[in-house]
Amino acid sequence: MQSHGNQPPKEPTVSQSRLLVLVSGAGSILQALMDACTRPDFGARIVAVGADRDGTGAVVRAQQAGIPTFVLPVRDFPDRAGWDKALTQACAEFRPDLVIAAGFLKLVGAEFLAEFGGRVVNTHPALLPSFPGLHSVRDALAHGVKVTGCSVILVDSGVDSGPILAQAAVPVRDDDDEHSLHERIKVIERALVPDTVGKMLREGWSVRDRTVRIG
Ligand code: GRF
Repeated sequence: MQSHGNQPPKEPTVSQSRLLVLVSGAGSILQALMDACTRPDFGARIVAVGADRDGTGAVVRAQQAGIPTFVLPVRDFPDRAGWDKALTQACAEFRPDLVIAAGFLKLVGAEFLAEFGGRVVNTHPALLPSFPGLHSVRDALAHGVKVTGCSVILVDSGVDSGPILAQAAVPVRDDDDEHSLHERIKVIERALVPDTVGKMLREGWSVRDRTVRIG
């Protein structure tokens, strides 16, 4: 059995796993995770929310819910490695079992992956490996695809290249623009991310080559 970075739990993690959520935007997927955590059977709580920029709706949501937050803009550090080290330390202080990148628009670096690799989950608004990167919805529309969707993946050192945990399809409509299509994809992400994270925590997971088995 091959795993990425640190060994993921072999047994299901029991109640009240610790989730740390990284964000850059409105935080609707964070909200879906916060809502899921209110269910006793979900078995997890969000111990902190970290952002790479000021003024995000996601951080406001977390603050209103009484969740600790931190903001670490890349520009506050002399270089990317310094930012990555600070991000790693800030996250480690909260001892997360899983880190969830929920609309986090930065690539984490080597130090972060040395600490958390194998237990960092990302959600991406396309059916990977098609359309990685920051403009996936626009790129899918420009390519003329009839079906796109979202992918929940384990983060590795590449750009949206890690093993796939879950995917769901979203049909493209003739009159879709980037905004309308992204909004429909986000509706699906708001269900798929908590569902996938909850299953991982309750049932455990393993990775062989690129193939993930949950449970
Ligand atoms: C999601 O579509 C995510 O896949 C992408 O950014 C969006 C985040 O939305 N990377 P929100 O900030 O959670 O509302």
